[in-house]
Amino acid sequence: MRLLDRRVLVVGASSGLGRASALAIAAEGANVMLAARRVERLDEVRAEAGKRASRVACDVRDENSCRTAVAAAVEAFGGLDAVVYSPGTSPFTPIEDIDAETWRSTLDTNLVGAASIARFAVPHLEASGGKAIFFSSIVIDDRPPRPYQAPYVVSKVALETLVQAWQGEHRGVGFTTIAMGDTITEFGIGADPEVIAGYAQTWAERGYMYGRTMEPESVAEQVVNALSSSETVRRIALTPHYPDPSEGNPDVFDLAELDRKRREAK
Ligand SMILES: NC(=O)c1ccc[n+]([C@@H]2O[C@H](COP(=O)([O-])OP(=O)(O)OC[C@H]3O[C@@H](n4cnc5c(N)ncnc54)[C@H](OP(=O)(O)O)[C@@H]3O)[C@@H](O)[C@H]2O)c1
Repeated sequence: MRLLDRRVLVVGASSGLGRASALAIAAEGANVMLAARRVERLDEVRAEAGKRASRVACDVRDENSCRTAVAAAVEAFGGLDAVVYSPGTSPFTPIEDIDAETWRSTLDTNLVGAASIARFAVPHLEASGGKAIFFSSIVIDDRPPRPYQAPYVVSKVALETLVQAWQGEHRGVGFTTIAMGDTITEFGIGADPEVIAGYAQTWAERGYMYGRTMEPESVAEQVVNALSSSETVRRIALTPHYPDPSEGNPDVFDLAELDRKRREAK
């Protein structure tokens, strides 16, 4: 029980990496406040996580909703030891077709929401000497950036700097970013699968993808590691690993596997 009695808010806990992280944190003995827009999905996660989990509705594009989510965790647990920020969204569109509203909505969720949650959570995290983890993406390391996701890449590069800015002004809190590779979740599920398949082909041909996707539990494991470390883990970059060459070639992305997993996720 590496996180026994810790008080943790997980924003974006209704699916994917946030959900896997919330379950892993709860399994380590922490009290977990689950936050997202789809409360019925949070109820399912809560049933799986056990009696130490609670839930609160939160839309991170609404500053008051961020305030309410943090307050709910503080009230339920008597304080806050950690926050995990997972919400992220991306258009899959050539850069010239991206309108101002798409830029704004992507930045709202991926960047401004993170700033709002931090703003309300940090006073409590300072009181507890706590930690804050934000989900970035390995796409920030690509030069030039991976095509057709410009607002997403821009938002994640900005998020990395935002988190450093918080660290610079609030040294009593340990800030972490986790940049992870492609993992099959609900991310991008609204996008046309044919369009995504075409883009994935381009990404694979141009060397933007690692030979296979990762599992959400691999990210959750790093979340638990960072939260349980006695030090501040500043940045984690996580890419697929090949313990056995027979499992695949990291330089050749298996598009059929991607397609199959995406259909299963649906
Ligand atoms: N999957 C990948 O390949 C991958 C790779 C690198 C980085 N990441 C990053 O990892 C993070 C999690 O992605 P994921 O793959 O787990 O995606 P996901 O399955 O789509 O989960 C996103 C989560 O964020 C929540 N969310 C979205 N908009 C929200 C809003 N306005 N207010 C509150 N919650 C909101 C969603 O809940 P509701 O819809 O219920 O609100 C959901 O729980 C993202 O930041 C993403 O950029 C993912």
